[in-house]
Amino acid sequence: MTHIAVLGSTNMDLVAYAERAPQLGETVTGRDFRTVPGGKGANQAIAAARAGATVSMIGAVGHDAYGVRLRETLEHSGVDTDSLRTIECHSGTAHIVVDNEGGNAIVVVPGANGTVDHLSPGDEGVIASADTLLLQLEIPLAAVVAGAQAARRHGVHTILTPSPARPLPAELLDNIDLLVANEREAAALTDRFDPRDAAAALLDLVPQVVVTLGAAGSLYLTRGAQPLVIPAPRVTAVDSTGAGDTFVGALAVALAEEKPVREALSWAAAAAALAVQREGASTSMPYRPEIEAQYTG
Ligand code: RIB
Repeated sequence: MTHIAVLGSTNMDLVAYAERAPQLGETVTGRDFRTVPGGKGANQAIAAARAGATVSMIGAVGHDAYGVRLRETLEHSGVDTDSLRTIECHSGTAHIVVDNEGGNAIVVVPGANGTVDHLSPGDEGVIASADTLLLQLEIPLAAVVAGAQAARRHGVHTILTPSPARPLPAELLDNIDLLVANEREAAALTDRFDPRDAAAALLDLVPQVVVTLGAAGSLYLTRGAQPLVIPAPRVTAVDSTGAGDTFVGALAVALAEEKPVREALSWAAAAAALAVQREGASTSMPYRPEIEAQYTG
């Protein structure tokens, strides 16, 4: 079985479902509310575990009821939480509005995630034992850089989700094998608003790039080869929260299993298509048999 390590965030998602997100200064009435375990790190860990990998989560939860639930949710999906610390502060929270088209707007408050600013004793060993390390940007950048450098020292493949988007230092980019950004993140990182142009600019920074295009699928670029455009299954989106994380988790598993890139991207797209049809982040992520049933090649 492939082994994926995730260094990243855990958040309790506080989700309001409303016809549309409010403008600044406006109040709108919602129709439902849920608390759903999430956070980009935890989401990618759960997605990879459900897609069939052995997964280790490195990060932190707060000393509160949310922290207990976040840990339990990871464990119930089969994720190893030995490297998930409990910190004397509140857990990370994400304040999310989901509109009637399944789109979302998110404010993240880091809480315990903000304390993950270095690798703790034992973390490098966990990273060294993995095939792939998944990284995002919801913990302090110093830890993301340290994780990527540790992975490089041990020949571990690294995949970075640059979300929330922010300028990325060379000491991080030099240790990333594959960057997976959505269109908005790709534009923010490159100042180029056409996804192909943005992907090409990102390819100057890392050896492989995926730009996800929502319902239009994804774009894959690697140096010295023609770009690939991979379609996504046509589905009706209910809630896109966590769909990008599902895509990354499933893609990491498929690549670690040495599926060809085109197949791996289609397989990840099948997983994400299942996720957008269900509400919530961790609650929407499919198990491997469901991905196999959705995947049409
Ligand atoms: O990518 C989706 C995630 O972003 C949510 O689960 C929320 O926690 C925010 O971190």
